Amino acid sequence: MKIIPLHKEHAESFKQIRLIGLKQHPESFASSFEEEAEQSIQDIEKKLLSSQAITYGAFHEGRLGGIITLLFESKLKMHHKAYIVGLFVQEEFRGLGMAKQLMNTVIDNARVVETVEQLHLTVMADNQPALKLYKKLGFRSYAHEPRALKVAGHYYDEIHMVLPLK
Ligand SMILES: CC(C)(COP(=O)(O)OP(=O)(O)OC[C@H]1O[C@@H](n2cnc3c(N)ncnc32)[C@H](O)[C@@H]1OP(=O)(O)O)[C@@H](O)C(=O)NCCC(=O)NCCS
Repeated sequence: MKIIPLHKEHAESFKQIRLIGLKQHPESFASSFEEEAEQSIQDIEKKLLSSQAITYGAFHEGRLGGIITLLFESKLKMHHKAYIVGLFVQEEFRGLGMAKQLMNTVIDNARVVETVEQLHLTVMADNQPALKLYKKLGFRSYAHEPRALKVAGHYYDEIHMVLPLK
């Protein structure tokens, strides 16, 4: 398995895997399939080139199987926080340790950014696989947000978690 930061040339395959994730697990992501399906490849290239975020991809036998994004805060008073968003592993690649490696890559890379002192993420309250992974990596929950997302008329609670790095 190889994990690398995704760049402009990965925009097409990133869009494909992202749309699969949004379609299969609408309750796990704040963005919606409809919003992102309309994004042009140029918009996605811009996102991948942004200095405010790094997106990593996990490749297995040359195929993009998983993605994750590390988001930085632009506001000076929030430079000490960064966010992990968009973790998704395609079904056929699950159980291989791909999510764990993606998470560890993000954590290791965040650790060496001088300003970043803690990592935040949110997870749907019923998402046991993801919750188990985050707890194993040392994240602790600090808030339970009722009705955080509304998808097709159903409400989903979210757990907010943090990992201190320094
Ligand atoms: C959650 C998800 C990212 C896990 O991906 P994965 O590559 O299969 O996970 P890994 O193989 O790296 O497993 C790492 C750990 O996660 C936990 N885990 C993963 N799948 C699990 C499952 N089905 N049941 C329970 N725990 C699970 C385990 O703790 C596992 O460690 P272990 O194998 O030592 O027990 C994947 O199922 C997914 O993309 N789900 C849909 C999108 C999503 O929920 N994203 C997270 C949004 S916050």
